[in-house]
Order: sequence, then C-alpha cells, then structure tokens
Amino acid sequence: MIDVTLRSERPSKTKADAVAVAVHDGRVLSAAARDIDEASGGALASALKTAAFAAKAGQVLSLFNLPGVAAARVFAYGAGKAQALEAKDARAVGRAVAQGASEQQLAEVTLFTPVEGAIAAMRQMVLGVGDATSRYVETKNVSLKPAPTLKRVRFALPDGMAKEGADALRVTTATSHGIEFTKYLGNLPPNHCTPTRLGEEAKKLGKSHGLKVTVMDRKAIEKLGMGSFLSVTNGSEEPPRFIVFEYQGGKKGAAPTVFVGKGVTFDSGGISLKPGADMDHMKWDMSGAGTVFGVMKAVAELKPKQNIVGLVVACENMPSGRATKPGDVFKSMSGQTIEVLNTDAEGRLILCDALTYAERFKPRAVIDIATLTGACVVALGKHNAGLFSNNDALADALLAAGRRTNDRLWRMPLEEDYQEALDSNFADMANVAGRDGGAITAACFLWRFAKKYDWAHLDIAGVAYRGAGKEKGATGRPVAALVDYVMAGE
Ligand code: BES
Ligand code: MN
Ligand code: ZN
Repeated sequence: MIDVTLRSERPSKTKADAVAVAVHDGRVLSAAARDIDEASGGALASALKTAAFAAKAGQVLSLFNLPGVAAARVFAYGAGKAQALEAKDARAVGRAVAQGASEQQLAEVTLFTPVEGAIAAMRQMVLGVGDATSRYVETKNVSLKPAPTLKRVRFALPDGMAKEGADALRVTTATSHGIEFTKYLGNLPPNHCTPTRLGEEAKKLGKSHGLKVTVMDRKAIEKLGMGSFLSVTNGSEEPPRFIVFEYQGGKKGAAPTVFVGKGVTFDSGGISLKPGADMDHMKWDMSGAGTVFGVMKAVAELKPKQNIVGLVVACENMPSGRATKPGDVFKSMSGQTIEVLNTDAEGRLILCDALTYAERFKPRAVIDIATLTGACVVALGKHNAGLFSNNDALADALLAAGRRTNDRLWRMPLEEDYQEALDSNFADMANVAGRDGGAITAACFLWRFAKKYDWAHLDIAGVAYRGAGKEKGATGRPVAALVDYVMAGE
C-alpha cells in the first residue's frame, strides 16, 4: 500500500527522487513544467523537442540531472489538451508515473497536478497509482521482480488548495484501499475464496477496522427461513455464509444505508450448467459481495456520521445429485414462493432473501450490487453498470456519484409492465422470464422483495472484471461510486 500525502514547494526546489510535471498537447508547458524549464535554462523544452513527445495522457518522459533542479529526475507527463485533464486521462497519468517510478526503483515521487481541475485530477491520479502498484501475488510463486521500492507518492496542488486537497485525498485514499481489497477478494481463485473464507475475511476486517461483524452459518440461515437462498446451495459441498457488517457513525437508531452484495463464489450454473468456455470468469460472481467488503473498509476508514450496514450472501452454485432441479419450488423468507425454471438465475434467488432481511434495519435506502445478468452486458457493454431504482432521488444521487468518480452507472427501466413475464402456474413467480429485457426482468424479480423501502439495484456483470488480456482481473468497481455516494451525504 503506497503512502499518499500532500506537499507544496516549487517544482525546481523540491527534494525528491523524482518530480512529475504536466506537459500539454503541442508541448505546452504547465506552470510546474515552466518552473522546471526556467530553472534549467530551457533544458526541459529542448528535451521535449528532441524526444518527439506527443503529450498523450499516460506518456512519460524521464529526464536526469537537469541543471538548477533539486530532484535527480524529472518526469514530464502527457496531459492532453491544455485544459483540465479528463478523468480517464488523469487515472492513466497516475498509473504511468507510478509505473515509471517503480521501473527506476525509486522510493518516492512528487506529482504536480495541472492547475485546472487539480483536485478532480488528483483523485483519479491516486486511483491510477493504486492500479499500478497493486499486484496479485497470493497464489503465485514468483517473488516480485524487481521488489517494489515505491513507498510514497506526494501530490503538489496549486496554492491555496491545501484544505480542500487534504479532504479529497483522505476520501480518495480510503477509496483506493477499498478498491484494492475488492480486487484482492475477486481475484482469489474460487477454491480459495469460498463462502467460509469470505466469512473469515469479514471477521478479520471487523477486527482491524472496528466494525461489528456477524457471520451466520447454514443453521442460522435456515432459522431465518431463507429458503430461496438455501435452494442455491443444495448442490454444493461448501457451506453458505450470511454476513452482516454494521458501522455506526450516526445516532443510535438513525436509519442506515444498507448495501447488499451477491457473493456467489463460483457460478457453474448448477443443473442448468453453463458452457465450458470462460467458465473461470464465474469466480468473479462474488464481485457484488467484494464491493460491499471494499465499501465497508473505506467507510470504516472515513468514519462518516451515518449508520451503514453491509449484507453479504455467499454460496456456490454447483450441480450434484442434491442440486436444485428446474421446476423445483421454494419458499423465500418473505413468504413468496418461487419456481426455479433455470438454476443459473441464482443471483436473484440469494439476493431476494437478503432484501427481506434488510427490512429489519428500517433503512433509509437499500442498494444491492450484483453480477446479475449477461443481458446487462449485452445492453450496456463494459463501461457502464446498470442502475435500477424505485426512487428517482436515490437514482439521481447514485448517477451523480458515478459521474464524479468516473465509475459510471446508467439508469435502466423498472416498470410493472415487465413483471408478467415472471408469472408461474406453480408458484407466486418464476425465477426467469424470456430472453427479452433479461436485465430488466431480473431487476423486476428483486423489486418484488424491495417494496418497503427506497431501493437501487446495480447490475455490475459488465464492469466488475476484465475477462481477458494482460488486464484480466477484478476492477474494484463500483466501490468508488458508492463511497462517493456515502460521502456526499456528509
Ligand atoms: N452470474 C451470472 C451473470 C453473469 C453473466 C455475470 C456474465 C457476469 C458475466 C448469472 O448468475 C447468470 O447466470 N445469469 C443468467 C440469467 C439467465 C439464466 C436468465 C444469464 O445472464 O445468462
Ligand atoms: Mn448464474
Ligand atoms: Zn451468477
């Protein structure tokens, strides 16, 4: 975990292993770059010319021992158009500078933000530094080569922004810790990240971060009457867990925000078995749960004056002689009965009981997060998560948080007209409708269990992980949007 702090000094006078300064399109120097250029008698501008530096975001040019500059190295980073950096570009800059510093085995670097939109840029840069410095090592026998040396990134903001900057840095640093934890849990192999392991991780987080944590086993879940949740566990040898995180930063009894995460630690589809290709992706079917872990960690660090509850429903979805069969009917905790026509539509079956459980908190809002449908990926692709809500104000607050953090959400319809597709002749509802509007009918199923409070559902199937390539792995989304949403309520 990299230490991130603020500092304010003239770039040329800053003592650090490296200082990073912005250069915009057409080699236009930022104020910080100009300071370096002047102190060095024009060495920066002439080096940029020689290097054919295009100033693309994420491009970094390293210069050594410039005369008149205290730091041994100057990183000129591309910052695109001569205006505020776009969020994704700022994140790329954070990534590139941290990567450059790591490659040169530096211990610390001071990063001067551009003047315009400095705080917003810094927030994204911190997340970029997190991207570049968190690596999966848990089940790899390679020692990191070379061993990571980068310990600290300092941000230098334009004058007069120290107070606002410190607040933003605090929130973003905690967010980055949350994202890293979410990614860690998501990337663990499914034989490691079992429901049992999630229960243990929850206890550990509770201890280290001062959260109240309750982990319920099968017996306790049976006692609650969560027949729908338990139906999904029938085929698995791994025992289920129901986890309750409680953070109290507000008055005792003040209505909490409740986050609910889908924690299917492996989704084979069950008897409605998935095809073999890419089935390993279904280890990330606990990403909603992972998001709840990440948000609770960030919340515990930020200590907002609110009450916040995290619920995690964790199990495997496996085929076996005892597994749920298509046609089986189960009674949910709410009393409503469900005909399981497709055992691969299991997310809604576990979430619906958690949504009923959430009623006991008399919540101000309930937000569930789930890799719920492939249909959502078809509809929105990999850049926006689907947002469904029974309350416009709640939906707008979440959309705004997604915009501020570039952790984007897109609102989808939630309308009664879609409900009849879930009609069943043998139960109060079926767990699947037809192919049409699959993300919407899944949300409509959940809506039947979320009638007693303001509720939003985030379908993160497209955004929670990258399934292929060098970047294959969990993204930590939508931790940033949800932490921002919480902190906007301060
Ligand atoms: N976990 C999947 C959804 C999913 C698909 C997540 C692709 C990430 C990437 C979910 O449990 C599922 O299998 N949904 C089915 C629902 C269908 C049977 C109605 C789906 O999307 O195919
Ligand atoms: Mn499934
Ligand atoms: Zn699933």
